Amino acid sequence: MPTDAQIRDALRAVIDPELRRSIVELDMVRSVDISATGQVDVMVSLTTAGCPIRGHFQSAVSQAVGGLEGVTGVGVSFDVLDNEQKASLQKSLGRASLPEGALARVSNVICVGSGKGGVGKSTLTVNLAAALAADGKRVGIADCDVWGYSIPRMLGLGAERPRVSPERKIVPHVAHGMKAISIGFFLDEDAAVVWRGPMLHKALTQFLEDVDWGELDYLLLDLPPGTGDVSMTLAQLLPQAKFVIVTTPQPVAQKVARRSAEMAAKVSLEVAGIIENMSGFTTPAGERFQLFGEGGGQLLADELDVPLLGKVPLTMPLREYADSGVPLVLADPDDPGAQAIRHAARGLVAMTPQELPVLQQPAAPPMAPPAPSPAGMSLPMA
Ligand SMILES: Nc1ncnc2c1ncn2[C@@H]1O[C@H](COP(=O)(O)OP(=O)(O)OP(=O)(O)O)[C@@H](O)[C@H]1O
Ligand SMILES: [Mg+2]
Repeated sequence: MPTDAQIRDALRAVIDPELRRSIVELDMVRSVDISATGQVDVMVSLTTAGCPIRGHFQSAVSQAVGGLEGVTGVGVSFDVLDNEQKASLQKSLGRASLPEGALARVSNVICVGSGKGGVGKSTLTVNLAAALAADGKRVGIADCDVWGYSIPRMLGLGAERPRVSPERKIVPHVAHGMKAISIGFFLDEDAAVVWRGPMLHKALTQFLEDVDWGELDYLLLDLPPGTGDVSMTLAQLLPQAKFVIVTTPQPVAQKVARRSAEMAAKVSLEVAGIIENMSGFTTPAGERFQLFGEGGGQLLADELDVPLLGKVPLTMPLREYADSGVPLVLADPDDPGAQAIRHAARGLVAMTPQELPVLQQPAAPPMAPPAPSPAGMSLPMA
């Protein structure tokens, strides 16, 4: 008959797929009961009652313990971490805050970034989002480029201020079936914004948390160029976010893009993949020019050991439609640029969970919903 210690040791093989650590290390094994007949009952503490990976724990625990000599049966039961335990788990994970409230019902958060400016982050954010929406996903776009926001223009939205709901949450605008919010909606046009450090952190926090995103399959964040304050803040606020790095084919751009990967690694965000943009140009006569060189995206992907999600060529319609406020993938899905972006979106879907991640609030509160906390419109940029 195995001892308590042997069983706990075997449970080290049970990994929480979201937190990527064993349930023993995460202190989620609540109790182990061993009966004289060899029946072992294990209770695992979940972060939320509606934890979607319950089934995973059930079979992984049965398998890990059932393999031990003398064990005749395994019972797996669950309880839920109380707030204090959650806080201590959070602390041990080194995270400042867990996604709750507005972002609690967002399954996947994808940051689109690059160390370099003008490589097509915003264009790709809008078109990837549109490709996901066209595929039936519920999608939101958050324009986090506080210095050079361009999402409103690319979605054909004006600078109209969003409504505030009775729960005092900001209601995102809807364009082409996607929810969208931009710092631009809260600023007077062309107002110079000089934000750094704590103020920027506070603005972005409110910006993300006070928006009523509702249930979303994907929230795409368009990042400003660089690897600075915004990325650090987002990484802290959204530990579950994945990064998509945009680069152009030339080696110099790839070097800069690598810096964003290094930043992502530093704050332990996962890089989901690379998209190479401006990857060649084909004339109407069919002649192909590698305007920005070749192979940078693949090199970076190999170096980081992540997939190259797509190579998006330069096409006139991609720019023209972006300027006119319609995502190309919706207007002309057969354009070579649109096709490459749709391919990249499919790659993203393949590698992201379609259920709510762990460490989030259940979709609907089991009892009466808590009184809405006044969120207000006290955004510093308002
Ligand atoms: N594949 C492409 N084909 C044609 N034009 C493109 C392509 N990708 C981007 N562009 C154009 O290049 C310009 C820069 O793109 P975009 O604004 O998306 O880059 P960005 O990385 O978001 O820039 P910033 O760093 O300033 O935020 C835009 O005018 C856009 O329409
Ligand atoms: Mg941009």
